[in-house]
Amino acid sequence: MVHKDWKKILVPYENAIEELKVKFKSIRSELLSLGEYSPIEFVTGRVKKVSSILEKAKKYGVSEDEIEEKIEDIAGIRIMCQFVEDIYTVVDYIRERDGKDLEIFFEKDYINNFKDSGYRSYHVVIKYPIQTAMGPKVILAEIQIRTLAMNFWATIEHSLKYKYKHNIPDHINDRLKKSSDAAFQLDQEMSEIRHEIRQAQKMFEVKSNVVSMVLKNIQLLYSIGKITEASEFQEQFNILWDKGDIRGLKKLGEKIGACVEKYEVFE
Ligand code: GTP
Ligand code: MG
Repeated sequence: MVHKDWKKILVPYENAIEELKVKFKSIRSELLSLGEYSPIEFVTGRVKKVSSILEKAKKYGVSEDEIEEKIEDIAGIRIMCQFVEDIYTVVDYIRERDGKDLEIFFEKDYINNFKDSGYRSYHVVIKYPIQTAMGPKVILAEIQIRTLAMNFWATIEHSLKYKYKHNIPDHINDRLKKSSDAAFQLDQEMSEIRHEIRQAQKMFEVKSNVVSMVLKNIQLLYSIGKITEASEFQEQFNILWDKGDIRGLKKLGEKIGACVEKYEVFE
């Protein structure tokens, strides 16, 4: 067999990982700098060790010449999210880039179809073009997208598998299954809270928009001399405001809006 210079082969994979990490990290920093929520919590990446590549090739009967086309996780990127919903947002980001700076090769949804081991994550295998000293090259890379809870479980399970050389004792396996269920529960509970937070934020936004619109229109009515209407509306606003009646404020907003329109006042 011809000797392979693995060091040389793996350089483009190292570079691809660096590029991909920068790309996903910058989505996060860009969103945060705009004061928006980031579905990406943090990103890691690694090149598979030569020994692991060779082991995997042997396990799947892949000849040395086919390794680069058949083993899709020589380059691996991991994207951690706070909530399960964020995973699908990240998947959408990747899909939007399909045919642009990358090409989606295949996807594996181990969230809706989690593995018997209890493993959950969303995998997207991509074809990624990279420039090497020898010219352009397309490599495969595996992107694993998971919540912090999924990552916690997978990390522990992986180190136990390693420790017991894949022969994990039954009583530990049982615990692992139970903790996988617990991690799933945790993700579900967090999703519930996320919904509440979103609703509260939206409610706050609706309230502040309605209030500023109502007060602006009342001011407008005063300014065109419609004192009676303006002070009536002001009175109604005060009552609703004191009660914290958002639905009432919304209705009042519509009423004042119609009134302002009636007088054809434009800013
Ligand atoms: P390998 O599992 O890598 O041999 O490849 P495969 O062709 O079986 O693909 P699969 O989609 O099953 O796994 C790809 C990767 O997902 C693995 O390399 C791991 O990083 C991760 N993974 C899959 N199953 C498990 C699991 O049960 N536990 C942990 N900790 N990680 C897993
Ligand atoms: Mg596997």
